[in-house]
This record gives sequence, structure tokens and C-alpha cells, in this order.
Amino acid sequence: SGAEVEAEAANISSCLLSNGVRNFSLPASPSFAALVRSSIRNLRFALPSVGKPAAIILPSSKKDLQGAIRCARSSSLAIRVRSGGHSYEGLSYTTENHVPFAVIDLMNLRRVRVDSRSGTAWVEAGATLGELYHAIGEYSNLSSSTSLAFSAGSCSTIGVGGIVSGGGFGLISRKFALAADNVLDAVLVGPNGDAFTRESMGDDVFWAIRGGGGGSWGAVYAWKLQLVHVPRTITVFSLGRTGPVQHIAKLMHKWQYVGPYLPDEFYISVFIPTGTSNGNLSMSFTGQVLGPKQHVMATLRQTFPELGLAESDLSEVSWVESTAKFAGLNTVNDLTNRRFDQGGYSKSKSDYVRSPISMRDVVEIIRYLSNGPQGSIQLDPYGGAMARVESDAIPFPHRASNLYSIQYGVSWQPSDNDRAEEYIQWLRSFYAFMTPYVSKDPRAAYVNYLDLDLGTNDWTNATDGTRNSSVIHARSWGERYFSNNFDRLVRAKTKIDPGNVFNNAQSIPPLQH
Ligand code: FDA
Repeated sequence: SGAEVEAEAANISSCLLSNGVRNFSLPASPSFAALVRSSIRNLRFALPSVGKPAAIILPSSKKDLQGAIRCARSSSLAIRVRSGGHSYEGLSYTTENHVPFAVIDLMNLRRVRVDSRSGTAWVEAGATLGELYHAIGEYSNLSSSTSLAFSAGSCSTIGVGGIVSGGGFGLISRKFALAADNVLDAVLVGPNGDAFTRESMGDDVFWAIRGGGGGSWGAVYAWKLQLVHVPRTITVFSLGRTGPVQHIAKLMHKWQYVGPYLPDEFYISVFIPTGTSNGNLSMSFTGQVLGPKQHVMATLRQTFPELGLAESDLSEVSWVESTAKFAGLNTVNDLTNRRFDQGGYSKSKSDYVRSPISMRDVVEIIRYLSNGPQGSIQLDPYGGAMARVESDAIPFPHRASNLYSIQYGVSWQPSDNDRAEEYIQWLRSFYAFMTPYVSKDPRAAYVNYLDLDLGTNDWTNATDGTRNSSVIHARSWGERYFSNNFDRLVRAKTKIDPGNVFNNAQSIPPLQH
């Protein structure tokens, strides 16, 4: 009720002020709505029907972050930690069970400190990938034949806090694996507001926070990252192809035998828009190769002649320039613009493919998707370094046995919001249609492509008589995201957060003792 909200607001504000945390906003403030909305990427979760927080707190130091967690707890508010706000299901700024909550938004914790000598960086969790890449780019040494880089995703407004927590796949992951594979240390603020480092949090927790998904363990204040060396000049391309179903299917079919098997320095992904049945079908290939044009031409002419690649399709750029290009930005300086992308309405799902889909089946898939609403599928090649990391090295398990991942999405305009359910239902039917072609037992999914269709925690039922019923329940989607690593995640959760302070619709539950 209104009176309860006001009482919570008064409570938390006096606690915050007495803890020296000055930067926060309450629902009565004129800036509140804009702050809550500021980084919401999926506007489905900005609609008026979605519950709003009782407070938004914007720490600007580790001490502020600790105070924010302590005060949210002492005011009995659930905690949602937000870095870049790109959660596919809005989990960083909503709750599923209508409990009053506070958003702790890390937008002011975004310092990046690069140590070019050791090739490492400390980055605060609220930095965006664009801010991280830009800072790394500043350290390119003109006299060296290589540049520093970091392996993570392509959208520049993603938060480092969320993406590293769930893995972080990007254009150099076939060479250097995931963002989370390249974490050397971290500072984690736990449920009592205490800060832990790699040393003090212990092996299980340090393992869990690197890929076990955001929102379960505490608030990551900062990551220490292993940077990597890439050639000063690399090659990039984007190729569009159009044609009848058979042509698009032939290219996708062949890609399955090329993308995952190319040398590690090659990344070629496939993007196919849905809902194109009225005209010529289309697809595009995004390519990045850590090497010169000639190497790309020589390799792809031999392995993928059907692509019809011409030297004029290729550009040689620096790594940081390539990050701007693939984020859809005009210049490297735009990487630091946290606001350029306004978000949209969407729903996504993911899959893993372990053996190539036959030409006949690819044709059927292309037919099916061409009859859908507006959306896309994206195929990301694995293999290379992705296949060489052991599947229990970190919680992210999708390694050697996977050829590629599929990301499915539908998106729509605000004027079409009344048809949202229809579009989402189509996506679910397409996902059902794909069942024979993808991983099974369990059907795997990528935790950073969060999908609440796979199941959700019901904390109100957590003590329904069956001991550890919430763990048994969470296994059903937990094993899709984490495979055999699920049990170790539950052990880590029980160590760091036995009272389940950090919970959300798909967080890892603790064991009950
Ligand atoms: P957000 O702030 O919404 O947080 C996501 C989750 O992590 C929430 O549960 C949140 O509570 C928790 N969390 C956030 N900060 C935390 C912190 N400091 N400590 C602990 N928990 C924290 N992925 C990928 O691997 N490669 C890619 O190329 C892309 N590309 C991409 C493009 C676009 C447009 C979108 C919307 C998403 C992607 N993703 C992706 C998926 C992305 O990795 C995923 O959505 C991340 O969780 C986003 O992290 P944010 O910090 O932005 O999200």
C-alpha cells in the first residue's frame, strides 16, 4: 500500500544517510522514474503493470555499496543489483513475487584501471563493455606489434557486472574463451555487507561467481581481468546474402561444417531474420579474424567458397575499432556512450547444437522461421578455445561437445504491444519445432540468455514440507544452464548466502539445514 511504501522509504533513507550513502532516489522524487528506467534494455519490463522498486540506490564507492546492502536488509527490502540492465528477463530491476525491493544500480561504479605492463585490468562492475573496451584501447602501444584486448560480448552498453557473472561470449572467444574464463580476482560484497576477495571468499564461491549467473552470490564490486594480446591490425567483414529458401539453407548448412572448425583466430557467425516470407529471404555473416586480409581470403576461399567472399568485403582495423563497429557505433569514442541505445520489446531463447543439422532439415527450419513475426536467429560458432576449456573449470559447461549456440528472438514496436503474447507464443512454438535438432537430456541453454520459460523459483513454497524442495525444483532449469556443475553451485550458495538474501526468479537456492 501507499503507506507501507512511504514507511519503507523513510526507513531506508535514514539508514542510508547515517551510513554516509547520499546518492539514492525514492518514489516521491521527480527523478525517480527516469533513474529506474535509465538502463532498462527490454522495455517489456518498463511497462506500468510491472512493479517498481521502493528505492533506487546509486553507490559510488565500495563502502556505499556495502551500506546499500546493509540498509536494504535492515529495511526488509529485497535486493536487486543492476549493472548494465540488459537482463533478458528484467531480473536486475523487478521481482517476481511482489515483495518490496530496492534496486542497487552500479552506474556510478565504472572506473577501469588498466595495467598494461602486467596485461591486467581492475574494472568496477557498473562499467559497460564499451567503457572497458575504450579504456583498453587507450593503452595500445604504437611501438608494439600487438594490442591489448578483452574477450567479452559485442553490445557496448552491456554491464560488466552481469555479463561476466554469466560467462560472456564474444568475437574472440574461439581464441581466448569467455570473459569469465579470464577473471583473475574479484571483490564480492556478500549478504551482510562484508567484502570478500578471491582469497577470502574461498574456492567454491570464486568458482561460482565466474559464470554461475548474476544475482545469486552477492554484489560483485569489481573484477580483475586477464587481458589478451591481439595483432595490431585485424580483419572484419559483414556480408549480406539474399535468395530463395534453398540458397539460404545451403549457406547455413555449409557454415555448420566451417564456423566451428576454422582456426581459433576466425569468428564467423550467422544471422537470419525471421518473418521474411513475403520477399526474398536474407541472411548475414559477421566475421572477425585476428590476422590480415590475405590470410582470411586464402583460408575462406578454400574452406567456404560458397560464401563468395571478395577482398573488397574486408576491412583492416584495430581491435578497439572492431568493437565499435560490431556494437553499431560510428567511432571508438562512442563506446563510452551509455545511453545510445534506447532498448526495445523482445523475448529470447537459446539452444546448443552438437551435430550438424541435415540440409533437408535446414530447409524446413528456414521455411518455419520465414513465416514468423519480426525477429531473428543468431548462430555463434564454438570450437577452438571454447572446446579446450574443461566443462567444470567454471560453472559455464557448454564446451567441447557443442558446435554452435543458437539465440532466437522476437521483437516488436510499442504500437504492437497488444500482440506481444502472440509473438512470444510463436517463439515458443519455433523452439518446440527445433527440439530434434539440438542438445537433449537436458536441453541446454546459456544463462546470459536468461529464459524464464525454463522454470522459476517459487520462494513462497520453499518450506512446503519437502526438505530442499527449492533445490530439487531449481535443478530442472539449473542443469540446462550449468549441467553437472549445478550441485557445486548449490554448495557455493550455501556457503556465501545460506539465508538466500540474493535471490531472483532463477537464482541458485541454498541447501536448508
Ligand atoms: P543486468 O544489470 O540486467 O544484470 C543481469 C543479472 O546479473 C541480474 O540478475 C543482476 O541482478 C545481476 N547482476 C548485475 N550486476 C551484478 C553485480 N555487479 N554483481 C552480481 N550480480 C549482478 N551475452 C554474451 O555473452 N555475449 C553477447 O554478445 C551478448 N550480447 C547481448 C546483446 C544485447 C542487446 C543484450 C540485451 C544482451 C546480450 N548478452 C550477451 C546477454 C548479456 O550478457 C546478459 O543480459 C547480461 O546479464 C547483461 O549484464 P548487465 O549487467 O547489462 O545486466
